Amino acid sequence: MKEVKIYSPATVANIVCGFDVLGMCLAEPCDVMHVKLLAEKKVVINNINNHQLPTDASQNTAGASILAMLDDINDEIGFEISIEKNIKPGSGIGSSAASAAGAVVAANHLLGNKFGNEDLVRYAMFGEKVASGVKHADNIAPCIYGGITLIRSIFPLDIVSIPAPQLYVTVVHPQIEVRTSDARQILRKEVLLKDAIRQWGNIAGLVAGFIKNDYELISRSLEDVIIEPVRSMLIPGFDEVKLKCKEAGALGGGISGSGPSIFMLSKNEATARSVEAVMINIYNKIELTYHTYVTTINDHGVKIINE
Ligand code: HSE
Repeated sequence: MKEVKIYSPATVANIVCGFDVLGMCLAEPCDVMHVKLLAEKKVVINNINNHQLPTDASQNTAGASILAMLDDINDEIGFEISIEKNIKPGSGIGSSAASAAGAVVAANHLLGNKFGNEDLVRYAMFGEKVASGVKHADNIAPCIYGGITLIRSIFPLDIVSIPAPQLYVTVVHPQIEVRTSDARQILRKEVLLKDAIRQWGNIAGLVAGFIKNDYELISRSLEDVIIEPVRSMLIPGFDEVKLKCKEAGALGGGISGSGPSIFMLSKNEATARSVEAVMINIYNKIELTYHTYVTTINDHGVKIINE
């Protein structure tokens, strides 16, 4: 039977001010997935490295996405999905989205690209619902489209790719798990008008900064007055990391997705490495284990390796 291997990348949702509407795709880390076409209507999940993820397809982000896709196909076919997770679940860099997006892109490839990218995002959102309790596309869309995406609306889907200048991304992942569902639960359901005005000014500023290659505007707009003040309490060292990384030359940054990872954007690699050194220094002091990555924006999203 036909089989494909893919790399499915990590993503940074929200990009600080754009809760649920902005996301960017990273060059690293990536999950490795093998997807095989079956001649029977079933979905088999194999977790290669042990992250204790569900193997019941309806409870697995890759499985739930593929089941949604199969609902739209009349043929007697199914898929076997093997997932080697390099993006740790609960890390805040789009682990669940990588599985969901990777599965649908691979399956679509095996089906001769029957579906368009927007359909794939729609299917993969079923996976995000399993993981976080709600459909959101700010990890899935950049994972499938690559680059930076604006999700103007999810019902109906309206995804816009945003061009951006060269940016380096430094990520620190303190090794605590923050479940997206919990990090959403603690958010206030109402916002003050003055905060909303500041937030949408920042979102518009950030998008304009990306399009105009205006690093100063990008830097000024990386501010979140609604979500970060609540969620940052879950992340040890957050305020110090943010302050010292900016002193080291970062344009700005904040919580990656729902955390606990923190990301910072820099204009060049040397600054991104200095920012990494600051993060390492802070987490060594706190005595919390962590991983860091210095990477770039990935313009192609999920990558098909071979058949
Ligand atoms: N926008 C989502 C959130 C992303 O912040 O809850 C989760 O990765």
